[in-house]
Amino acid sequence: MQKSDVLIIGSGVAGLSTAIYTAMKRPDLQITVLTKTNERKTNTSYAQGGIATVWNLENDDFESHIADTLDAGDGLCDPRIVRIVIEEGHDRVKQIIEWGARFDKNEKNKYDLGREGGHSKNRILHYKDITGWEIQRTLSDKVKEFDNVRILEHYFALDVITQHHLGYSVTKATPDIRCFGVYAFDKQSHKIETFAAKVTVIATGGAGQIYRATTNPVIATGDGIAMVYRAKGRLANMEFVQFHPTALYTLTDENPDFLISEAVRGFGAILKSKEGEEFMHKYDERKSLAPRDIVARAIDYEMKVRGDEYMCLDCRHLDQKKFLDHFPNIYKKCKSIGIDPFEQLIPVVPACHYICGGIRTDDMGRSSIQNLYAAGECTNTGLHGANRLASNSLLEGLVFGERIHRDIIATIDQRATKDKLPDWDIRGTTAPKEMVLITQSWKELKEIMSNYVGIVRTDVRLRRALNRLNLLYNETEDIYKNSILSPQLCELRNLITIAYLVTKSGMSRKESRGLHYNTDYPNHFDFIDQTYL
Ligand code: FAD
Ligand code: SIN
Repeated sequence: MQKSDVLIIGSGVAGLSTAIYTAMKRPDLQITVLTKTNERKTNTSYAQGGIATVWNLENDDFESHIADTLDAGDGLCDPRIVRIVIEEGHDRVKQIIEWGARFDKNEKNKYDLGREGGHSKNRILHYKDITGWEIQRTLSDKVKEFDNVRILEHYFALDVITQHHLGYSVTKATPDIRCFGVYAFDKQSHKIETFAAKVTVIATGGAGQIYRATTNPVIATGDGIAMVYRAKGRLANMEFVQFHPTALYTLTDENPDFLISEAVRGFGAILKSKEGEEFMHKYDERKSLAPRDIVARAIDYEMKVRGDEYMCLDCRHLDQKKFLDHFPNIYKKCKSIGIDPFEQLIPVVPACHYICGGIRTDDMGRSSIQNLYAAGECTNTGLHGANRLASNSLLEGLVFGERIHRDIIATIDQRATKDKLPDWDIRGTTAPKEMVLITQSWKELKEIMSNYVGIVRTDVRLRRALNRLNLLYNETEDIYKNSILSPQLCELRNLITIAYLVTKSGMSRKESRGLHYNTDYPNHFDFIDQTYL
């Protein structure tokens, strides 16, 4: 059994910022970070547009960023959390600049603040079109300064350890579920190890891989959310899945789909049909820069009515030098598939991008399970409500990483690590004979979710999805019980859980709101507030 004071699952913005803040204040604590592939393979590394924060107080103010976030969230944000993240966000961004993060500046040597959908002001700090790469680089370099943080790569966390593993019955109604650590599969030795800790932080990111088209890298399989669900922790708002309006349309099956950042529209690009006709004015006065739920739905509708496989982004009128300066990677990618953005329209389609629901936490990142925190995309903190405002996600990861460290250092000395925990119960005796069964089920899952639980939903589609998911669930549980574990099998199980939760929550919301649009209930009915699971 491996013991730590603080165990963090995930090495993206949320996990590493928690580790760094805690290590800075308490060099005496043993901090372990587990990550299922290599440290920098995270959603964080893929972020393009930037990080939203009120930077220029002459032209912007907290109230305006708060109002934009609440407006995008369509009535379901927690205003107190929104204020916390936006007000504290400024100092967190200053801090990562002190740690070495570079953001682009203009000719006056001031930060070049970009614009994205739903923002009423230019307030996005960015590094070219690879801001996430720069933030990951900064945090990955910074964390190495601390001897008391060890990062274990290629460790796949399987389950949160609670009283259940000590032989006690645990249900959703159990008032004091406690976390003692996690079981994790060492992908190199193929052994399952027990990691005991005083506190555990889940920072496992999103779950975009439940859909056929997604901007999320293959690590985004919702493991942390599924683990907390199995441990009977509280989740909320899982029906709110954000589709980014503009993933690059290609003829090859890329996974993930390449994103054309919303910052490109913030820079002046315009959404058009193949024929070059503008259409966004029919849906929102903010046109191409309306919030994402509105733009993605408009594109989906236009594609269906016109029978087109994609819509387009027109960049031909933009300043070429400035465009190349801002978006070198997007330009390069378009050119690599034979599209010259200065000559041609860029073909785009919506793709699954972000999950707004997740592990329910309070204002200090505490989950409903004792000793268990959660941060980043795997959470539902109340910031995003029914639809996340662009570039608020990296900010949330930094703010909650810092808040969780405060709660940890205030309480860790009163907590203990369990001396003894049972080994993982090795079920199954044989290696899975046919890996193809796992990959095939994953493909089926993506089809079900894309066809029936996408941007536009109906009761019939949701019911159909649930029936098919039940079949996949039973087949997968059968393999799980009878064969030796593999990360692929565990990811499939987690993805089926996430798909079930998205569908089930969608079925219980009898209204359309934010990212959840059901044509059987096209209006807001103020039917329910949050959907808890
Ligand atoms: P991640 O960065 O995804 O990190 C998750 C970590 O958990 C990884 O280390 C992973 O290996 C680990 N992990 C997962 N499961 C397990 C397991 N079972 N065992 C062990 N380790 C595990 N947001 C913005 O604010 N601005 C943007 O411009 C922006 N652009 C984006 C562009 C793209 C293409 C994408 C995909 C997302 C973008 N986002 C953006 C969203 C943002 O990047 C993510 O929401 C955010 O980075 C999530 O950070 P995180 O720390 O929660 O998770
Ligand atoms: C983008 O660059 O369009 C993504 C921004 C985000 O998801 O917040």
